[in-house]
Amino acid sequence: MRSSSLLLLSFLVGVCDGQGASDFRICAFNLHHFGDSKAKKSDVMLTLAKIITRCDVCLLQEVRDSKGKALQQLLDRLHSYDTGHVYKAVASERLGRSETYREQYVFVYRTDTVTVTGQYQYPDDRPGDVDAFAREPFVVRFRAPMTAVKEFVLIPQHTTPVNTTKELDALYDVLDQVKKMWKTEDVMLLGDFNADCGYLAKKNRKNVRLFTDKNLIWLIDENADTTVRLTTSCTYDRIIVHKGSFASTVVPSSAKPFNFQMEYRLTEEQALEVSDHYPVEVLLKGHRSTSFRNGGTSLALTGTKGTAHQTIFNLKIFALFALSHLVFQMLTW
Ligand SMILES: *[C@@H]1O[C@H](CO)[C@@H](O)[C@H](O)[C@H]1NC(C)=O
Repeated sequence: MRSSSLLLLSFLVGVCDGQGASDFRICAFNLHHFGDSKAKKSDVMLTLAKIITRCDVCLLQEVRDSKGKALQQLLDRLHSYDTGHVYKAVASERLGRSETYREQYVFVYRTDTVTVTGQYQYPDDRPGDVDAFAREPFVVRFRAPMTAVKEFVLIPQHTTPVNTTKELDALYDVLDQVKKMWKTEDVMLLGDFNADCGYLAKKNRKNVRLFTDKNLIWLIDENADTTVRLTTSCTYDRIIVHKGSFASTVVPSSAKPFNFQMEYRLTEEQALEVSDHYPVEVLLKGHRSTSFRNGGTSLALTGTKGTAHQTIFNLKIFALFALSHLVFQMLTW
């Protein structure tokens, strides 16, 4: 009795120490030529599995899976690495202007926290601006009941370096259209925008409506380095969120590159085998309503404003409650 109580107690304390247990992570990762040859490298696939399974939703870019097998192999690898979740993927067609070079946008997501409620391949036939993009955004709407915002839209983009300014500005038209089509402002734009260094000069920013519209918040710090190479320091990969309920769901200061080289103690060479980019990521606050039952006593915990801190705070109160309950039981036993 005594030892099992202690076991339960240590479990409860463990649960309560789990930082940000209810936070929801959105990631965007340029996999740099992901296809057959990467899928054959087991160390690369392991690192990819570690990175991608940290995320509830992960946008993958530069998926160049011409035989259509590497993506399934990646999903299999995710499942063997993380047996606790089921992952699915929703992918665009292979997009590009040339027959020989095409890329897919792929969203990998955890089926226990997210469902796909809509998808839209931007047709890129806007009058006066036909074929603005090399890789037209593949827009996906997600429902994530555990987040405070509940449902949101992700607009991906991997720009063509030489046309970055033009494509980023055209992305504003996509945003506009999606907002009207789905009657929502809960929209995020994310991906390898090449939005820095030689590809987007500071003086050209005034020509990019994504920059000039004050309703849009660029979340990744201007000084953040999203490139792996020691010799480069550029903020190519970005996350932009529309002001309003989605923006207020974002955990402050959580948007950043994930330096997997440092995290997994890889050499620069090993990291470059995985990608030349770091993923960027952002956390959303959770909204949870959980009820615990304990021998006829029921305690409902609701993070009303839905912040992770509140949820953890509530869990701590629950642990205290359980603790006193156990002590009482032990004393009277
Ligand atoms: C850049 O944009 C122009 C005009 O849309 C297009 O003709 C050209 O092919 C683009 N360059 C690349 C490398 O995609």
